[in-house]
Amino acid sequence: MTLRGRNILLAVCGSIAAYKAAFIVRLLKKQGAEVRVIMTPSALGFITPLTLSVLSEYPVYHSFTEDENGSWNNHVDMALWADLLLIAPASENTIGKMVNGICDNLVLSVYFSAKCPVYVCPAMDLDMYKHFSTQENILKLKEHGVKIIDAEFGELASGLVGQGRLAEPEHIVEFLTQQIGSDAPLASRKMLITAGPTYEAIDPVRFIGNHSSGKMGIALAIQAWKMGADVTLVCGPIQEQLLKNIPAGIQIHKVVSAEQMLEAVTAGITNQHIAIFAAAVADYTPEEVSPIKLKKAEDSFTIRLKKNPDIALICGQNKKADQLFVGFALETNDEEINALKKMNAKNFDAIVLNSLNDAGAGFAGDTNKVTIYSKNKDAVVTAVQSKDIVAKEILTYLLSL
Ligand code: CTP
Repeated sequence: MTLRGRNILLAVCGSIAAYKAAFIVRLLKKQGAEVRVIMTPSALGFITPLTLSVLSEYPVYHSFTEDENGSWNNHVDMALWADLLLIAPASENTIGKMVNGICDNLVLSVYFSAKCPVYVCPAMDLDMYKHFSTQENILKLKEHGVKIIDAEFGELASGLVGQGRLAEPEHIVEFLTQQIGSDAPLASRKMLITAGPTYEAIDPVRFIGNHSSGKMGIALAIQAWKMGADVTLVCGPIQEQLLKNIPAGIQIHKVVSAEQMLEAVTAGITNQHIAIFAAAVADYTPEEVSPIKLKKAEDSFTIRLKKNPDIALICGQNKKADQLFVGFALETNDEEINALKKMNAKNFDAIVLNSLNDAGAGFAGDTNKVTIYSKNKDAVVTAVQSKDIVAKEILTYLLSL
């Protein structure tokens, strides 16, 4: 596993080891991770936000609001952006507050909002580190799933020698690289995702298509891959630029028509654990495709269409007991009724409803708002958010099934 393409949020606390945060940022970036930094107010005494901002290439935040214009530094968005929250160095004070639900700075509010794996690297003097209260707090964090990258032995800022030094930046990054594979919630899961529109040829230059951009399916593929899944993306015609942003680890099958999409999907569906049918497949295709460009002649013109194969329906009919299939429904009216009908008809375990009545939702834009229904769990409604964050929420919901 590599850290390439992962969003890592580094939280720096007040400790002399805070200067090592600069090296951590450098090493993470070298591995190809996107790194953003937040700081506690007391970390500001040890290293400047400017240093960390230049190295990370993002603004560095340390308070709930910006002093100059009073704007809110949205801790919920920061937490949702992160694939991994790394608290390094983590001071005695921050560790204690994490355990006791004290939320008096930006770092803590991000921690309490985070849904991603959290890694804590303690750093303090040896007697503080040995103190029963520190050790009990660290144990409690571990019991609640927080990963501890233990303090190391050596010379401390006080001149004393013992355990308490922040783990060396190289060790922290090695630890993350090794852990991320086995920790990943979708590790060793195979997932197939369909995305984009299909184009149904009329003649060599014309087609029937739709406005699907493929962005939602691609966001799902990238997030699933980040969560450790082995992802196959079967994608209709979309902008080349979008394809360029897809990590190399994702297998892409480019198709044009519904017939080609069906062929690519059926070739690979049997050994998938999860399939998400996010493509906007054309329901109909011309009965005949003219081999030469059609010329305009009459005042009106009719194309006879025949039904395309329903890829999700065909797969659903052959679904095995250990497979989880998820569909999408784009509706303008009777949204819930129509979505639930589709879930049952196509044998989906869950369905993601896009209502065109919701502002910020749908095909082409960069945001979406969805409702996720399933056979066994309560529905979940997301806020209008970037498609990346909606994708994470959909996958988190699927993990709960
Ligand atoms: N789908 C598919 N193959 C098709 C049509 C749809 O795989 N030929 C999948 C879509 O990817 C989506 C789900 O089925 O996950 C619902 O698609 P939709 O077109 O909304 O449903 P239809 O059953 O075609 O209903 P409608 O009459 O609303 O078009």
